[in-house]
Amino acid sequence: EKGGFEHFMLKEIFEQPKSILDTMRGRLLVDEGIIKMAGIWDHLERLTNAERIIIIACGTSWHAGLIGEYLIEEFARIPVEVEYASEFRYRNPIVSSKDIVIAISQSGETADTMAAIKLAKEKGAFVYGICNVVDSSIARFTDAGSYTHAGPEIGVASTKAFTAQLTILSLIAIKIGHHNGNLGKAEFMRLITELDAIPKKVEEVLNSVDKTVKEIAAKFVDANNFLYLGRGYNFPAALEGALKLKEISYIHAEGYPAAEMKHGPIALIDENMPIVIIAPKIGHYDKIVSNVQEIKARKGKVIAIVNKGDTQVAAMADYIIEIPETAECFSPILASIPLQLLAYYIAVDRGANVDQPRNLAKSVTVE
Ligand code: F6R
Repeated sequence: EKGGFEHFMLKEIFEQPKSILDTMRGRLLVDEGIIKMAGIWDHLERLTNAERIIIIACGTSWHAGLIGEYLIEEFARIPVEVEYASEFRYRNPIVSSKDIVIAISQSGETADTMAAIKLAKEKGAFVYGICNVVDSSIARFTDAGSYTHAGPEIGVASTKAFTAQLTILSLIAIKIGHHNGNLGKAEFMRLITELDAIPKKVEEVLNSVDKTVKEIAAKFVDANNFLYLGRGYNFPAALEGALKLKEISYIHAEGYPAAEMKHGPIALIDENMPIVIIAPKIGHYDKIVSNVQEIKARKGKVIAIVNKGDTQVAAMADYIIEIPETAECFSPILASIPLQLLAYYIAVDRGANVDQPRNLAKSVTVE
């Protein structure tokens, strides 16, 4: 059932070219130049006229929500707030019938997310669900929604569901932006063509980085701490990379926006601190170069995720992992692959139970 892989998590990481394609199937029609999504189409006016979108989720799904904020604000120009479902539900949030709430949940059973949805509905909001498990409680209870179609995710640490969530959020943001006139035809076509190429690029990443990441992982089995840094779209990707490591290897890890380093975390950097930095060419590259300089001046160990052919960051980093170029908004999908593998191989080297990490459950039905 693990398809020849040692763990479900590894199988699911390697399934991503297919799961992303399954999420886009029948929806992203590049030749016709359209994005076809029934859930969105049926409520297009409501969505395009929303004064505000509130995204609620927990854990990895919340990280996808943060990237959703960047996507929706950039392409649809609708203000977005992203909240932990557990905070939202307990603080008497200001929500009205003018708001759209997007709830994201792989399992569709997370108790806090469900309670937050109930509250939002009581206050009159229209709730759109993004779930992976078909016919789950959240999928049934929301007003409309889209399934991610990533297939069953067995490993407790979410991998393919996360990249499927990013895919759906990309489709939604681009579709709304195209409809409400913020995205011109040429830019719309450029984006959907690029998104269409993502499954192939994910495949390319899996084939080209697996061995390198495994070797890097072996060097950090005994690390006690890790810092993950990224900017813009890759800031939430850094949070997610850190969460993956924490969950399955039990190494303390923190994700941070790279620019915030100087406001505190820089005090932690010495020759014993491994720092994973997401540094693609498009998107604040020069700023990331300076961050790497600051880290190296303090002798931190840099593991950099860079685009193929990178020279500046590559020259300073201790280890590099190369990914292909893509639009900035899709780079978290590609960057996530080596981050998942890094967490996986470190956990395996430490003898941890990667599919069933201690204290964690696949669906969190406690509040
Ligand atoms: C992380 C992880 C959890 C879940 C969180 C929300 O790998 O699996 O953080 O993301 O419990 O779960 P769902 O998406 O099922 O609502």
